Amino acid sequence: MSGSAFEKSSRLAKVELSEIVRIAEAARAAKAAGADVIALGTGEPDFDTPDHVKDAAARAAAEGKTKYTPTAGTAELRAAVAEKCKRENGFDAAAENVCVTMGAKQALFNSYMVSLEPGEQVIFAAPFWTSYPDQVRLANGEPIMPLCGVDSGFKITPEALEAAITPKTRWVLLNSPSNPAGAVYSRAELEALAEVLRAHPRIWVSSDEIYEHLVFDGGEHVSFRVAAPDLADRTLTVLGPSKSYAMTGWRIGYAVGPLPLIKAMTAVQGQSTSGACSISQAAALASLTGPQQLLAERRAVFARRRDLVAERLNAAKGIACPRPEGAFYALPSCEGVYGATAKNGKRIENDADFCYALIDEVGVATVPGRAFGAPGRFRISTAYSDAELEEACRRIAAATDAWLG
Ligand SMILES: Cc1ncc(COP(=O)(O)O)c(C=O)c1O
Repeated sequence: MSGSAFEKSSRLAKVELSEIVRIAEAARAAKAAGADVIALGTGEPDFDTPDHVKDAAARAAAEGKTKYTPTAGTAELRAAVAEKCKRENGFDAAAENVCVTMGAKQALFNSYMVSLEPGEQVIFAAPFWTSYPDQVRLANGEPIMPLCGVDSGFKITPEALEAAITPKTRWVLLNSPSNPAGAVYSRAELEALAEVLRAHPRIWVSSDEIYEHLVFDGGEHVSFRVAAPDLADRTLTVLGPSKSYAMTGWRIGYAVGPLPLIKAMTAVQGQSTSGACSISQAAALASLTGPQQLLAERRAVFARRRDLVAERLNAAKGIACPRPEGAFYALPSCEGVYGATAKNGKRIENDADFCYALIDEVGVATVPGRAFGAPGRFRISTAYSDAELEEACRRIAAATDAWLG
């Protein structure tokens, strides 16, 4: 050895290998050993990016739009996002209030990089999307994750929010519709949270609305900005085409917020990644300015799959599946199976035991709820064909039937 071994920085030491990665590896290993595995772990639509969006990208490449763009995004795309906020979300934003990022993920990450002092806190409800806590830790902050169970629809209540606030609270992060619970906050619920926040002027609100177009049963998506217009000067809205237009691989997201925050986020972006991919920005522009009919069509498909999964799993022994109101996941409870013994002789004592037993015995890969701060549950993505979902539910029911006798 020519020098000392690599040592992780303290900020990285707090970040663990994701449970999703571990379960994906277990599914891959089972497949490699010849098992027929249905993996329901993925968080992206199974649909393809619309053709008119791909065509716009091809045109952009052919026309030589292949150079650096302004760090905060092309003028056309920023203007289109501002226009979209007015048209779809119902709040006013100027193009200068928009920063185009590399996915919604980077918008959130940049917001912490520019705002958190070491040890400052970000509050969000558990169950949460797995990246939330680690992004905060990477920015030397502390995630505060009150458990919000099935009784509150997996949503944070004003009381739970008030109880979680400390002098170190910097952000409250809301996610509606949510991953992994499919929770959708009503206007009244957002207004009640805003009322709590009015008494805490130092706290900023980050509203992750990446699943905004996937609200079922005629329900309405309400942007936090619309529920609390008076808090606009401390609200960041996070949007993007990844889920709505099946564009996860294009890596585009939109941060919409007050100018000083957007300028600071743009500065961080300028020294880390520079502006998002020029071709992807042309594609995203086409997604916003092109036909929108596909949004309703895809929503109907996801609603149908939600119904299928909830119905089949609720009929399975030991499983209870609340009906998600949005997004494309279900988060059933598996606690009814605890105490049962799997075929390999191992007792199922928690959600991870349950998920690994499902892979081993019936070749269905789901994600243990503990990865999302929801122990006792497991997450199924419904971004798969009806046939795959049917078969996966049939296998899960067969497994729990065998375990519970
Ligand atoms: C709640 C939530 N926010 C943000 C993202 C990230 O989206 P993007 O792919 O645009 O970075 C995801 C992706 O799974 C998500 O589930």
